[in-house]
Amino acid sequence: MPASSRVRTVFRCQECGEDAPKWMGQCPACELWNTIVEEVDLDGSSGARVTSLRPSVPARPIAEVTSEGSAPISTGVAEFDRVLGGGLVPGSVTLLGGEPGIGKSTLLLQVLAPMSEGRPVLYVTAEESAQQVRVRAERLGSLRPTLFLASETSLPHLIGHIDQVAPDVLVVDSIQTVFDPALSSAPGSVAQVRHCTNRLVNLAKARSMSVILVGHVTKDGSLAGPRVLEHVVDTVVSFEGERDHELRLLRATKHRFGSTQELGILAMSDAGLLSVDDPSEMFLADRRPGVPGSVIVPTMEGRRPMLVEVQALVVASTLPQPRRQAHGVDSGRVAMMLAVLQRRVNMPFTGADTYVMAVGGAKITEPAADLGVATALASSLTGNPLDTFTVCFGEVGLAGELRSVGGIERRLAEAARLGFRRAIVPQSVTTTGAPLDLLPADTLDAALRSARILE
Ligand code: TYD
Ligand code: MG
Repeated sequence: MPASSRVRTVFRCQECGEDAPKWMGQCPACELWNTIVEEVDLDGSSGARVTSLRPSVPARPIAEVTSEGSAPISTGVAEFDRVLGGGLVPGSVTLLGGEPGIGKSTLLLQVLAPMSEGRPVLYVTAEESAQQVRVRAERLGSLRPTLFLASETSLPHLIGHIDQVAPDVLVVDSIQTVFDPALSSAPGSVAQVRHCTNRLVNLAKARSMSVILVGHVTKDGSLAGPRVLEHVVDTVVSFEGERDHELRLLRATKHRFGSTQELGILAMSDAGLLSVDDPSEMFLADRRPGVPGSVIVPTMEGRRPMLVEVQALVVASTLPQPRRQAHGVDSGRVAMMLAVLQRRVNMPFTGADTYVMAVGGAKITEPAADLGVATALASSLTGNPLDTFTVCFGEVGLAGELRSVGGIERRLAEAARLGFRRAIVPQSVTTTGAPLDLLPADTLDAALRSARILE
């Protein structure tokens, strides 16, 4: 790629700031590896003298700063609005991250149609052809006269499109495929991604334009390789789910304008993404009551309660080393529950294969599901089912004791709303006026007895 005559780039260590003549694996000054990244050298930035300049906007008392113009614009997708705290704030930059194929482009096409009512919006696709996007937009019913589409990968051209359309909302899909030819680094490299993001962040602030950048997540879950983008953008929203399941979760992992506690729940359908108002109902739809090994757990995702079915199956193993399979639940915590059941409840799983899963593509990471996992395992082993109208939750300690967890009232209210009548909870839960009957237990053993899984 020819370097433009106006832009000078340097290779600079991100740790110590040393300039290197070319890209090197190890910084010659601080000797750290993989810290040298190509950057645009702003005139005189290396070793610049510090001078005093009269600021264009003087500092003001904080109470005199107006907050006008920062009211969020609704995206038209209720679950996305919920995560963003109402919608997109003008001049903000949001990074939407997720694995390839999870539905990022679909979500954005759906969002741009309602957002383009009365304002120009620009969708820059750097991955697909304009024709491909049009076909999809047609299927999703997103054709609008003020929704502009450009298939573009070069940053200078992209900025040209922004000048022409003057959009209120810009989507760049994806930031990893956009590059500035002035930098010799390859598209998708840290240098390119960071440089292009910085330019777009500056444009967003200068033009009061809301920007959504799509970022592909690498296998280890980080955005654009290292988390180079997260600190320059205002909001980071991750889009998660399993491709084989329809369930999709949206959550903010960083949000300068609101809470990161909200969870958006969507379902991928033939008609695009649909907001799911009642996730518990969706998770319980195909439940078969009265089967040993099935337990309903009221889980919390941020502030949102969700009833999820945890299933366990224990079978005699034919393998020298029995299988321990976990899906949608933390395999480390399942191993702990097996150990606690063996030592504190005297239920050995030696010689048995164990399978534990959260149904419907749900992922439970919180310790509050411990009791559910242990109860499901015990129930499958003994063949005694848990009562159909009973839920349970609580953290299980290594001594076999039950420990309290957060969000108790919301969990109980959600269980009661879906018709459950009893909840097995840690002894320390002392909620008065609970919407269902509480069966407090101080140990896992006591909980399994009150659940009639142990006689
Ligand atoms: P896409 O938005 O292209 O994913 P990303 O941009 O995150 O890579 O969505 C990809 C998948 O979504 C694709 O495999 C098909 C599925 N899909 C539907 O099931 N229904 C739909 O209406 C659309 C548009 C896509
Ligand atoms: Mg895409």
